[in-house]
Parts: sequence; C-alpha cells; structure tokens
Amino acid sequence: MLVIALCKGRFLEPSLHLLARADIRFSEDIASSRKLIFNSENGSCRVVLVKPADVPTYVEYGAADIGIAGRDVIMESRADLLQPLDLNFGHCRIAVAGPKGKLGDAPPNSEVQEFGGASPNFHDHPTIRVATKYPRITLDYYNARGIPVEIIPLSGSIELAPLIGLADRIVDLVETGRTLKDNGLEILEIIAESSARLLINRAGYQTKRDEVLRLIQAFEKVIR
Ligand code: PRP
Repeated sequence: MLVIALCKGRFLEPSLHLLARADIRFSEDIASSRKLIFNSENGSCRVVLVKPADVPTYVEYGAADIGIAGRDVIMESRADLLQPLDLNFGHCRIAVAGPKGKLGDAPPNSEVQEFGGASPNFHDHPTIRVATKYPRITLDYYNARGIPVEIIPLSGSIELAPLIGLADRIVDLVETGRTLKDNGLEILEIIAESSARLLINRAGYQTKRDEVLRLIQAFEKVIR
C-alpha cells in the first residue's frame, strides 16, 4: 500500500481529482471529513492530510511514500526528495512585493529597484525588513544580491505587514494578484514560478518501485 500525503486547503480538490482520474477513489468525502487518514476503495493507497508546508517532511522521513505539494514549499523545506512530475495545477509565483509607487522607476526584475539606483554594495544600504512565510527563500534571494535583510517570519496575511509598518517588503505567493492589488501592493520581482509537484521518498522509490512507477505512469497519462 502506498501512503500519499496531500495538502489541506486549495490543493486538496485538484489533488483528489487527479487521484480519481488515476482510478484511486475513496468511499468517504475527504474534503468535508475531519478525519486525517483515508484508505482507497481498492486498498492500493492510503491518503494522509497534512499542512502544505509539512508535506515534504512527511515524504522525506518516509511517513508517506509520495506527496503532492507546491514548488514553493519544496524550495523552502530543502527536503531531499525525488520530484519526477510537474502536476500542472496550482500555478503561481513567489514574488517580492511592496507598497505601490514606492518601488522606484527601474524596470521590473531589476535588482536596481532594491538599491534605489545606488551601487550594489552591501554596506551602503539600510537593512530591509521583509515579512514572509518563506524565510529561507527570502534570505537566499537577498543574500545573493548582497542586500542586508531582516526577516519577519509570519504564517499568513503577509500582505498586511507593509501596510501597518511591520515590514518594508513581503515575499509571498501571487496567484491572481488580487490580494496585492486590493491592498495597494505591487510586484517588485518574481523569484520563482511554482506549481504542484509530485514528491517521492528516495528509499520508497527503491522498495516500492513497481507501485510507485505505476502511479507515476497513471498521473502522467492524466496530465497528458
Ligand atoms: C495566498 C498567498 C497570498 C494569496 C495570493 O494566501 O499567501 O496571500 O494567496 O493569491 P492571489 O494572488 O490570488 O490574491 P492564502 O489564501 O493561502 O492565505 P494566507 O494569507 O493565510 O497565507
């Protein structure tokens, strides 16, 4: 039996849809239940429901053989996993954003914006406070540009931080862009594109190879 870690929240419905199209069905309504473990009707799979950011952990430690999670949480977790498939849903971007009109005149995707046009010398710049639920991605981004940064770790409603003086910038997911727009924020730079990915535990890929390969092939067929 393969154990599959799925995210609660906005990935759950498309993940269950993918499983159903790969003939993995459940007698219970997973989306409305409060249970956390579900066995498939044919007994081939067990789904466990976890928080999105925890999916890579469950798979890396082998508590689940397989998981479905966004590239954003995988990048942030740095878990050692196999990632054989882009599942082609949950498309969004990880972006740096800040208050509209305060980001300078440089074109998008320009590091110059963060430096306010000055030379990129670490010691020339005041520390930027950045609120995010992606502290590692954010630190890597600013370190790579030599910009001193103070990370303000938050777990949600990130867009609020620059509005009430908690941070100068945010690093967050942008899907439709509506949350940024409605809060008077704009994208400064895209850090990475994200979408749902299939994750596989390295040891499980060896010990349950046939089952795992069958599932990957079924998902590939659905995606195509
Ligand atoms: C996510 C993300 C943004 C928003 C972006 O938050 O953190 O806030 O969605 O979506 P949009 O570009 O379509 O407006 P989520 O809804 O997961 O809630 P959270 O603030 O609690 O993280």
